Amino acid sequence: MNAVICATGTYVPERRMSNHEFEEYLDTSDEWIVSHTGIRYRHIAADDQAASDLATEAAKKALHRAEIDPAELDMILLATATPDFVGFPGTACIVQDNLGAKNAAAMDLVAGCTGFIYGLETAKGFISSGFAKKVLLIGAEVLSRHVNWQDRNTCVLFGDGAGAAILCADEGPAERGVLYSYIRSLGSGARLLERTAGGSRFPYKQGETDPNDLLLKMDGRKVYNFAVSSLVETIDHLLDYHDLSVDDIKYIIPHQANLRIIEAAAKRKKIPLDRFYVNIQEFANTSAATIPIALAELQGKHMLQEGDLLIAIGFGAGLTYGGNLIRW
Ligand code: UT7
Repeated sequence: MNAVICATGTYVPERRMSNHEFEEYLDTSDEWIVSHTGIRYRHIAADDQAASDLATEAAKKALHRAEIDPAELDMILLATATPDFVGFPGTACIVQDNLGAKNAAAMDLVAGCTGFIYGLETAKGFISSGFAKKVLLIGAEVLSRHVNWQDRNTCVLFGDGAGAAILCADEGPAERGVLYSYIRSLGSGARLLERTAGGSRFPYKQGETDPNDLLLKMDGRKVYNFAVSSLVETIDHLLDYHDLSVDDIKYIIPHQANLRIIEAAAKRKKIPLDRFYVNIQEFANTSAATIPIALAELQGKHMLQEGDLLIAIGFGAGLTYGGNLIRW
């Protein structure tokens, strides 16, 4: 049974924040941010928008494109590191209610910036087992709520947004959809990218908890090195599995964390940079949402044809990394 991506949708908040806005209050510059990351803009959620709101908008667009009624959905998977509420309730359940997807089970998936990659294989599993015929998979983040706006090492890197894909069971004879996934974790690096307090390890204690410990922290250099080697390792595994060469792949869609990470991996693998789909200049790093936003853009711009082979690759908190080989 194939698990085919039958529609995609995306939503980013209206507010578009340029690098120059940071220059007004931080010791940074547009030149530094562009030359070190490739980022020029990020979109920032309105005060009344939470992750479920962005996710719902992206999902509605995908449902509309596929002409699928929400009641037809069997499962909603929501990859996010920035849920509406800590731990419970799951944000996917809120989206299920917003959509009126009355027959769908719903759960969140926590795998950092690799969440959508893990989600594609999870969705395929629900379809292959016969449990589901239609799975809505969403990556949605409101990172602006969790970055330290005074920390130039991190706040310039992130943005808010959501992307959705609907995976449909397909019994056609040709192998299509999610063909193969290579997904891994490296828990030894768990604390390289974290929000220290507020969980069960360091619970929030009034008057004791440092407010900065509630916000995102990252050892950028170490995560950078991990990111480049993850990209290279994942490309190798996905190509080797089907004995493919990079010439067989229409686009590699990497997690959009830093253009320099993508350039370094391209150089190491001797792959032309234009084979990688890059939109980081507009959206910055939206964690679990970068890959579905890119997929929806590619589809929206009619850049994909049936039969095209794609590789999607994620890496991030956990640490987690990996990718999917997809036939469109
Ligand atoms: O999605 C999750 C995965 N995340 C990632 O993959 C991110 C991985 N890491 C990175 O992309 C890069 O390491 C960063 C973009 C975070 C940092 O770039 P870098 O070239 O590795 O910079 P650095 O950390 O080596 O810092 C170099 C200098 C430092 O100053 P000193 O100590 O040399 O005086 C930083 O304080 O650049 C400084 N710096 C900045 N300067 C101006 C760091 N951020 C900024 C900034 N503006 N925004």
